Amino acid sequence: MTSDTRRDPYLSALGLTDWQYRAGGPLDTKPAPETDSRPAPPDAGEAAPDGMNWDELEAYLARRDHRGANRPVFGVGARDAQVLIVGEAPGANEDAQGVPFVGRAGKLLDRMLFAIDCSRATNVYITNICKFRPPDNRDPTPDEVAADWPILERQIDLMAPRLVVAVGRVAAQTLLDCQTPLGKLRGRLHRYPRRDLDVLVTYHPAFLLRSPQQKSKAWVDLKMIARHIRNPGR
Ligand code: URA
Repeated sequence: MTSDTRRDPYLSALGLTDWQYRAGGPLDTKPAPETDSRPAPPDAGEAAPDGMNWDELEAYLARRDHRGANRPVFGVGARDAQVLIVGEAPGANEDAQGVPFVGRAGKLLDRMLFAIDCSRATNVYITNICKFRPPDNRDPTPDEVAADWPILERQIDLMAPRLVVAVGRVAAQTLLDCQTPLGKLRGRLHRYPRRDLDVLVTYHPAFLLRSPQQKSKAWVDLKMIARHIRNPGR
């Protein structure tokens, strides 16, 4: 049985039968911007996490100001994975469990990953730009992004992934340090600013739950992710 036929009943059960693969065009690249307009992290009275290992970094996060959240949401998955998935910030479910993407959107993300033979149990790592739930689920403020930025950067250092997948506008614009609308960022490959690292942008699964007609475009993005994993040299 091929992996596609194995997945078909699964996708159909998920209502994803309308996900059609359309071969993407040649992948574009974008030169890294010369400057970084992202805010510098505030002085938190503690050394930056450069040089920390995974356990030290997680403990460091736990000592940070929780900004009203119940607990930090550090990340989950395979720390030696080639693919790092970055969302925006924890929501209520994530804040309750301390694990990213565990609500309805997270379940859809898991099914999307399964469709390209990826999972948090085996070959992807999942985290967020912000590690604490913003009050009332609002977008993270620049100060909140800045406060958690060194943690994400250290996670990337430790992981050394081949590909970062930004899900949703906030993650994409923050990681790429731009204000370009998500619809213009997805569908092509970008360079992570000042790193030898590729970035792909796709829709946030919460958006896909609200706009299922966009799933066909997300499926194109997923196929690009799968292709990039197989052939990282582009
Ligand atoms: N949305 C996100 O961006 N991240 C989560 O962890 C959950 C929902």
